[in-house]
Amino acid sequence: MNKHPLAALYDETAEVEAELAARAPDTADHWARTRELIDTYHPKRLRLAVTAVIEETPTATTFRLALKRGGDLPPFLAGQYVNVFVDGTSRPFAISSTTATRSYYDITVRRVPAGRVSNLLIDSLTVGQELTTTGPMGTFHHNPLFHGDDVVFLAGGSGVAPAMSMIREIVDRGLDLRFHLLYGSRTADDVIFREELDTMAAESPLILVDHVITDPSSEWEGATGFLTAETISALVGPLGGRMVYVCGPQALYPFALDQLSALRHPRHRIRFEASGAPARPEAQPRWPSDIDPYGQVTVTCGTASFSTPRNRPLLDALEDNGIRPEVACRSGECGLCRVRVAEGTVHQAEEARPRLCDERFGYVHSCVSYPLTNVALEV
Ligand code: FES
Repeated sequence: MNKHPLAALYDETAEVEAELAARAPDTADHWARTRELIDTYHPKRLRLAVTAVIEETPTATTFRLALKRGGDLPPFLAGQYVNVFVDGTSRPFAISSTTATRSYYDITVRRVPAGRVSNLLIDSLTVGQELTTTGPMGTFHHNPLFHGDDVVFLAGGSGVAPAMSMIREIVDRGLDLRFHLLYGSRTADDVIFREELDTMAAESPLILVDHVITDPSSEWEGATGFLTAETISALVGPLGGRMVYVCGPQALYPFALDQLSALRHPRHRIRFEASGAPARPEAQPRWPSDIDPYGQVTVTCGTASFSTPRNRPLLDALEDNGIRPEVACRSGECGLCRVRVAEGTVHQAEEARPRLCDERFGYVHSCVSYPLTNVALEV
């Protein structure tokens, strides 16, 4: 059996550490080499060419991205994403390909109503074109030490992309990890990777795949409805202490959390990959009930000053006005989009994962923060 990719990366790191220790007396050389290694494994930006466009379903397309000159891309952990820069903004897309190859990353994009970046990529990106992305990022991946060897994944729509990368990795690397995917789609035609998923499930006792269809045709014989507590119980059985991963459209998160709570599954055994800022921040418990989410406020940032509705994330409002903080996850996790609120009050969504020092010094994650009053920001 092959080593888990994390163990392989630890080995690679140990080699680097030994090399650095041997060079330690020469501090300048030590730091230069360290920088070079960091840039190799964690580049801030990659310039990638589209080498294939694969139509998965009528609404979902996979883009294969590789270095133009060829060669290995930085390693990644199944479940991580790259942030794609396009049209003056950016969006994170999970890598759907296997970690067993480093010659390309696949990203699988689904058309969504009013989806600015997704729809632009699907409508205009062709083989040979180039994109700027970040290196692989994110903490939504299997950790063998804490997540165990028997996991459940609830996916909706293109939220299947990180699951696909994890399953491909299990198969390609021969990992001893049992993986049960419950994949919700509207119709059978919307199921992304259906043939490959079903083939892998048929060939490996470690891979279990259940498609759950909300709007089935008369020929559909599988599970139907939403990923409710009853459906999860019926398909998976008792969850026990298994880690449950959840990835899909925004609405899936509160819904899945409710269903898993109903099953008395402990919160610390649930991992979410949020996808974007909440569309209705006013529906969150901490939004003040007397504040109109559609009202306009003024945002001041340096010499710029502009008006924006309260329910528009600060990051989007800044980008609309040509101000671009560093950004990656756009869902409150990575912290790269931090801005300081010098004046005024903002609502920071529940998705935000601020550090104690951010709270103390007035920093918020702008991708999931909304101006409740006129605000002055430091970017
Ligand atoms: S971009 Fe990651 S927290 Fe905002």
